[in-house]
Amino acid sequence: MYYSDEIIEEVRSRNDIVDVISTYVKLQKKGSSYFGLCPFHNEKSPSFSVSRQKQMYYCFGCGAGGNVFTFLMEYENFTFVEALRYLADRAGVELPKPEYSEEERRRADEKAILLEIQKKAAQYYYVQLKSPQGQQAMNYLKGRKLDDETIKAFGLGYSSKYSNSLYQFLKSQGYQDEMLAKSGLITMDEKNGPHDKFWNRVMFPIMDANNRVIGFGGRVMGDAKPKYLNSPETPVFDKSRNLYGLNRARTTRKPYFLLCEGYMDVISLHQAGFTNAVASLGTALTPGHASLIKRYVQEVYLTYDSDDAGTRAALRAIPILREAGIQARIIRMEPYKDPDEFIKNLGAEAFEERIRQARNGFMFSLEVLEKDYDLGTPEGKTAFFQEAARRLGRFEEEIERNNYIEAVAEKYHTGFEELRKLVTKMAVREGLARPAERPKTAGGREKEDGIRKSQKILLTWLVSDERVFRQIKDYISPEDFSDGVYRKAAELLFVQYQEGDVNPARIMNHFTDEEEHREVASLFHTRIEELTSEREKEKALMETVLRIKNHSIEEAGRKLEPSDIAGLQRLMEAKRKLQDLKGLHISIN
Ligand code: UTP
Ligand code: MN
Repeated sequence: MYYSDEIIEEVRSRNDIVDVISTYVKLQKKGSSYFGLCPFHNEKSPSFSVSRQKQMYYCFGCGAGGNVFTFLMEYENFTFVEALRYLADRAGVELPKPEYSEEERRRADEKAILLEIQKKAAQYYYVQLKSPQGQQAMNYLKGRKLDDETIKAFGLGYSSKYSNSLYQFLKSQGYQDEMLAKSGLITMDEKNGPHDKFWNRVMFPIMDANNRVIGFGGRVMGDAKPKYLNSPETPVFDKSRNLYGLNRARTTRKPYFLLCEGYMDVISLHQAGFTNAVASLGTALTPGHASLIKRYVQEVYLTYDSDDAGTRAALRAIPILREAGIQARIIRMEPYKDPDEFIKNLGAEAFEERIRQARNGFMFSLEVLEKDYDLGTPEGKTAFFQEAARRLGRFEEEIERNNYIEAVAEKYHTGFEELRKLVTKMAVREGLARPAERPKTAGGREKEDGIRKSQKILLTWLVSDERVFRQIKDYISPEDFSDGVYRKAAELLFVQYQEGDVNPARIMNHFTDEEEHREVASLFHTRIEELTSEREKEKALMETVLRIKNHSIEEAGRKLEPSDIAGLQRLMEAKRKLQDLKGLHISIN
């Protein structure tokens, strides 16, 4: 870390989170927390909560959460050190000269320099576009009906005809060859010397959700191949965790995103007022993308190209989105190729109409399937229904499954009961007892999720109610929590309890990685069902403790070597204690 834990904690504790956030978000006191409209996603009723007691915030809508540092990092796009400096200044704390470990300094500096290079390059390309050499590129963009405002908003640019002008420029700014090579923008060629990766192309800077340029796409201004070149992955550019246009779409007022295939589609849609459009970065949609999207919206409208490749891509995206808990709908662009062409020819209103007509993802996939069968013959029809039934069996929720069975039965003119029986039969044939009773995915993922949920509930309880620790400390230890952030957070919290100073916001200081930070924030903010009576609370606490302990013993047993006698004895002891626990009454008072 750059600064000592003590100084970071001093700065944090001298900046009350409610005071700081109040300057950005209108908050209202409700019970022990303050609530307001979340500044990180769009909502009409407040699900953004700030707790003075915990000195943390959390949004029940989008999962954004953390302490006062995180808030500024997210809201102001500050780095951790910038947030620290800002808050130190606000509270009148003088920061000492930073302490660096060699390795930390190197890594942090490297990322910072790479981001700086991307930003400088984007500025350079932008200036080129506006200069006389950029005339042709400008004409190209104008020919594609982009206006000045759009060009500026997306920071479009031009890479000149010279093969190393960006290199020359970046050198003049003082960057070393090693960093330039790592940036992905310069190729170091032994024979011909350093040259630019992009030349004579229209440049599309790719930004992360915080508006930082992390890479580029570059398009030829004609029909040459390859049409687009893209930056390679670098320490600051991870294609499976970023989406084109997300920096703008994240503040949309709509409850869904329009997910399209191309850079140009995103830009056209934004220009036409659809500021909720995003695209993956020249790659297929990944689960990483889906969970990124899930932070902002629960629903996605796929507006992929209307060709076969686009249809296939949409069919692949639907289950990936579903897995992440996102509803998918399909918008068709026929008779046009993609949203860009559609908007240009038919305009925004016609596109709105298509959005209204969007088809349910599952029904769409059946329509595509239909084409493989001859529904005019009995064999063809039977085979189609069997495959449809097989797919229907994959809905785990009985209500949802029945709704789909009903929709399919109606659309394909067959009886609901008959189709329902077929679904069950197909499920049995696939080796599943009954569709309703099988776990979510083949593996134990659902169970694992359940255990994590229990661990989260316990951690949330522990930070909200000091009495809980006294009750559970004889049975549960940090080792009972899952590897990674769960265990680390539990360890830190248990130490705080032993030292008599419970301070979850301080625990957050240990997790400076943005992903981890969010995850830890969610550990302390699990929504716990309103339990009215003490009795109910005690029962629920008991069940949670048992579940966590049980799982931890099972895990330990799995990892045990048969020859480890001492380990075996420890395990038996743990099992015996668990039996005792089952007969015990946990009292909160
Ligand atoms: P498209 O060919 O649909 O691109 O490819 P587009 O954005 O609509 O571009 P225009 O309208 O023809 O100018 C979709 C996406 O696939 C990636 C790019 O991310 C592109 O936006 N792609 C395509 C490449 O990475 N390389 C290519 O050669 C082509
Ligand atoms: Mn296109």
